[in-house]
Amino acid sequence: MKNIVILISGGGSNMQALVRAAEQRQWAQRVGARVAAVLSNKADAAGLAFARSHGLPTAVVDHKAFASREAFDAALMAEIDGFDPALVVLAGFMRILTPGFVAHYDGRLVNIHPSLLPAFTGLNTHQRAIDEGCKFAGATVHRVTPELDHGQILDQAVVPVLPGDTAQTLAARVLTQEHLMYPRAVERLLAALP
Ligand code: GRF
Repeated sequence: MKNIVILISGGGSNMQALVRAAEQRQWAQRVGARVAAVLSNKADAAGLAFARSHGLPTAVVDHKAFASREAFDAALMAEIDGFDPALVVLAGFMRILTPGFVAHYDGRLVNIHPSLLPAFTGLNTHQRAIDEGCKFAGATVHRVTPELDHGQILDQAVVPVLPGDTAQTLAARVLTQEHLMYPRAVERLLAALP
């Protein structure tokens, strides 16, 4: 059985979609995997309560307790590796990871980003798409490299940008698609792992 470790910083709605997918009948047998733990860099991440209420182990590694990114990432890696992960899934995890961390999980680290990469890396993606006059927006599942929001694109979901959209209405439309796309992408990745 392959272990999935999910990292969150906030509400974790993508994590919730993944957990719900993995809870479906026969999923673990079919995919040969399970969500082993949900970790956060923030003790008050709302998604932690959801994970606990679904019987999942959780842990917090608070980045503020560490003097450097390297020290934080080392502690995070130790926590993650305690769950022997086949796949590490970033789901709204709002920390930039060091090259050492990324190399350690080479081939088994994925992220979801709320834009059609390579457009709009970084933050405020929905407002930027509206400001640029984009007619379409979306989200991307990609492998993680040391460069923020780069790495091989594994899947994308596209939504229209509608007249009168705000960053909030567009984000909600995109998020609905993220929740469908991420569990499917994770399933495909797991099937492709040795
Ligand atoms: C999502 O839009 C995701 O693409 C981005 O951060 C947001 C996380 O939302 N990486 P949630 O915490 O999964 O609800």
